[in-house]
Amino acid sequence: MSKPVLQAKGLTKSYRSATGLLEILRGIDLTVEAGESVSIRGASGAGKTTLLQVLGGLDAPNKGELSWMGRRVDQLRSSALASLRSRQIGFVFQNYQLMPELGAQDNVALAGQIAGMPLAEARTRAFELIKLVGLSSRSRHLPSALSGGECQRVALARALMNRPALLLADEPTGNLDEVTAVEMMNLLLTISREQGAALVLVTHSSEFARLASRQLVLRAGSLSNA
Ligand SMILES: Nc1ncnc2c1ncn2[C@@H]1O[C@H](COP(=O)(O)OP(=O)(O)O)[C@@H](O)[C@H]1O
Ligand SMILES: [Mg+2]
Repeated sequence: MSKPVLQAKGLTKSYRSATGLLEILRGIDLTVEAGESVSIRGASGAGKTTLLQVLGGLDAPNKGELSWMGRRVDQLRSSALASLRSRQIGFVFQNYQLMPELGAQDNVALAGQIAGMPLAEARTRAFELIKLVGLSSRSRHLPSALSGGECQRVALARALMNRPALLLADEPTGNLDEVTAVEMMNLLLTISREQGAALVLVTHSSEFARLASRQLVLRAGSLSNA
């Protein structure tokens, strides 16, 4: 069997606050296999964003083990971690986080350049992905000239730029109207499957959570089956 795309064992994360220690993650165990989609629900403030940031190497855990594709990453230096992360993990955020001064295609291409792809190749692949998400007629539009749903499509294309093994999506439909949210969710599930990326999806919607192959809940700092 191939190695899990992601494996977390006993991850903990606390924040220091004026009134003491806030224990947000209290022992997260999670294995995601290739081809899986996993949804995570939980109350506001439960730690879902913190969890995705730790799983994706954007934030360091206090304790525990984290592996991507069978390789331990929790002890890596930040430069080595950033390099591996740019090639193995794609992020989709609720608020898109596009570069405002770059057009749609250039936003996508930039992710390739950061990972070391030559510019011409990055631009070509970026256009293919922009087409895949249905935006070929808007490839030069700045984010300010795109709707929320269109921005999130660009963000999805960007997340897939470096053929990641794992896509981490944090309430990707949180800023979209109902119809656009359904479109986005279908696109996310279909395209991640087609591109061979496993998916961990944080969502408030029980309807969307059910579309994943496995459904989890984050409660009191740990994950359980929904
Ligand atoms: N950088 C930080 N410093 C201190 N507390 C934080 C920080 N980030 C998040 N928190 C706290 O951690 C808790 C979980 O936050 P978050 O992961 O954003 O939850 P969710 O995404 O489930 O709404 C919240 O109580 C929040 O205030
Ligand atoms: Mg959140």
